[in-house]
Amino acid sequence: KESNLILAIETSCDETSAAVIKDGKEICSNIVASQIKSHMRFGGVVPEIASRHHVEQITQCIEEAMKEANVTYEGLSGVAVTEGPGLVGALLIGVNAAKAIAFAHQLPLIPVNHMAGHIYANRLIEPLTFPLLALVVSGGHTELVYMEKDGDYQIIGETRDDASGEAYDKVGRVLGLTYPGGKRIDEMAKMGSDTFHFPRGMIKENNYDFSFSGLKSAFINTVHNAEQKGETLNQFDLAASFQASVIDVLVSKTLKAIREYPVKQLVLAGGVAANHGLRAELTNRMNQEFPSIRLSIPPLSLCGDNAAMIGAAAYVEFNSGNFSGYDLNAKPGLSF
Ligand code: KG4
Ligand code: ZN
Repeated sequence: KESNLILAIETSCDETSAAVIKDGKEICSNIVASQIKSHMRFGGVVPEIASRHHVEQITQCIEEAMKEANVTYEGLSGVAVTEGPGLVGALLIGVNAAKAIAFAHQLPLIPVNHMAGHIYANRLIEPLTFPLLALVVSGGHTELVYMEKDGDYQIIGETRDDASGEAYDKVGRVLGLTYPGGKRIDEMAKMGSDTFHFPRGMIKENNYDFSFSGLKSAFINTVHNAEQKGETLNQFDLAASFQASVIDVLVSKTLKAIREYPVKQLVLAGGVAANHGLRAELTNRMNQEFPSIRLSIPPLSLCGDNAAMIGAAAYVEFNSGNFSGYDLNAKPGLSF
């Protein structure tokens, strides 16, 4: 085969997605069916509902991805799927769909780590240069990953409690926002300023770990105390103050790591990479302090969950011959 074409499938949480990726870096198609509306009224992702939606959407997503990419199954080099981390019932739909296609068409089956996918979303935009540092911020994870080469993941720091996206969503709930609140808080933050000066968790500690539970408690206490006194607080300032604290610690720990590791490129990854404040602050600080280190930030369309990023990460596994048998199972707690 002249070029490598991978059909990738992603069903770890609440988006059903299928994509075709050429040579690990070119998007031939990337179909994403979001279920967010079905989970909104429950204030979070309901696992059973997620599984049911994946079952209903998966075949159509795959067919559309194949059609848009204008490829046949015979033209594919392999089938990739997110094996974890994620919701077990949601992952199982993608894993079984991928297994069925791999078996029917005698194609290599490539299991992919969802978080690796978020990192490799950046290769769909520009080449990656190692050693690389990835700030991975999503609904379930917040970690700094140092990579000396493709497929090498060293977690040098991570959250001790809530993930950053999780903190956004919990605080959003306190403000009465619909799930997931992250995007709305980001928008509100633009219209306020950091007047509350919430704590910056672990910012002074000599490590690369994070903690957002103190910030969350400070936020909740501030809102509840005001409620009890019958005071109304400025919602925009609350949002801006929360966001300032999150960005402050994320950027400060990331720059600390860049100072101490021989990093050639910094990549931002995960759903919270869509945060406008974080994108702007990281860009500013990198331009000021490390103008010679390349900074990659995915476009908004590749920050949230999608199968294109799984296809990009799968290409690395394909080249290393990391294939799986038909006994592949979902790994809900998978880490690097
Ligand atoms: O990567 P992702 O789509 O799913 C996981 O793998 O977890 O990340 C979803 C998370 C949610 O917590 C959501 O609130 C957050 O990303 N998020 C944001 C923004 N857009 C999405 N958080 C802050 N600012 C945003 N603009
Ligand atoms: Zn994700």
